[in-house]
Amino acid sequence: MLAASRRWRAQGLKVGLVPTMGALHAGHLSLIEAARTENDIVVVSIFVNPLQFGPAEDFARYPRDPAHDTGLLGGASVDAVYRPSVEVMYPPGSSTRVHVSGVADPLEGAARPGHFEGVTTVVSKLFTAVEPDRAYFGQKDAQQAAVVKRMARDLDFPVEIRVCPTVREPDGLALSSRNAYLGPEERLAARSLSSALRLAALAYAAGERRPEELRKVLCGRLEAEPLARVEYAQVVDPETFTPPGTLAVLAVRIGKTRLIDNHDLSQVFSG
Ligand SMILES: Nc1ncnc2c1ncn2[C@@H]1O[C@H](COP(=O)(O)OP(=O)(O)O)[C@@H](O)[C@H]1O
Ligand SMILES: [Mg+2]
Repeated sequence: MLAASRRWRAQGLKVGLVPTMGALHAGHLSLIEAARTENDIVVVSIFVNPLQFGPAEDFARYPRDPAHDTGLLGGASVDAVYRPSVEVMYPPGSSTRVHVSGVADPLEGAARPGHFEGVTTVVSKLFTAVEPDRAYFGQKDAQQAAVVKRMARDLDFPVEIRVCPTVREPDGLALSSRNAYLGPEERLAARSLSSALRLAALAYAAGERRPEELRKVLCGRLEAEPLARVEYAQVVDPETFTPPGTLAVLAVRIGKTRLIDNHDLSQVFSG
């Protein structure tokens, strides 16, 4: 991958990288489109990264569908697909980890120990393998994007981190590969996340600024949904991911499926 990327860049071409774990959907395609608009060359990586899954998490059953991915990518305008194997990414004996503190500590960091370390380790290796000029991440995983920005700055990666808006289903549910786990009733219950964010944005627009009151709006809607179990619901600063702030962040279990979503309450919720 690196030789091709260096050839492109030697010709003065800009390279955009879209890191994914496959099971591609329209959210991934929106990142690819943004990369297409802003670069000459678009590289998509597909790697289900064992390092970012906890021991009790869904690594083994994470959706993998290479034929579906190849089909979707055929219709997108992508110059190269980088699909390293686990053995190439983590050869026997590999033991180095990239650890970000601060922004990686609360919320997802606290709920999923080791998760962000897995993410920053693999993303730094992808940056080394591809040497992109820009890399594209989704706002759906807002804290991940902030953690990756911190890492790129701190380790002097000459990569511009671009964050693209969350793509949603017509009823508001943020697209995610894990939505495939939801049964029909769970799929209906999953609307509670975007619906809670919408209600909190309305409260904010009506003048509510007290963090506890905004939290109550989020939790009120989520707790009204019998199939939903709230892991966290907070309103935080979008840089530090600690209160106070305007970014409402949610992690909710619908049955066995863990979903996350977020919205900046100072913005209209259109989803
Ligand atoms: N609904 C979405 N809208 C925009 N970007 C998304 C969406 N879902 C995932 N992404 C982004 O795609 C990239 C790869 O995520 P990945 O883990 O493969 O997908 P998912 O989060 O759906 O399981 C991440 O940067 C993620 O934020
Ligand atoms: Mg994901």
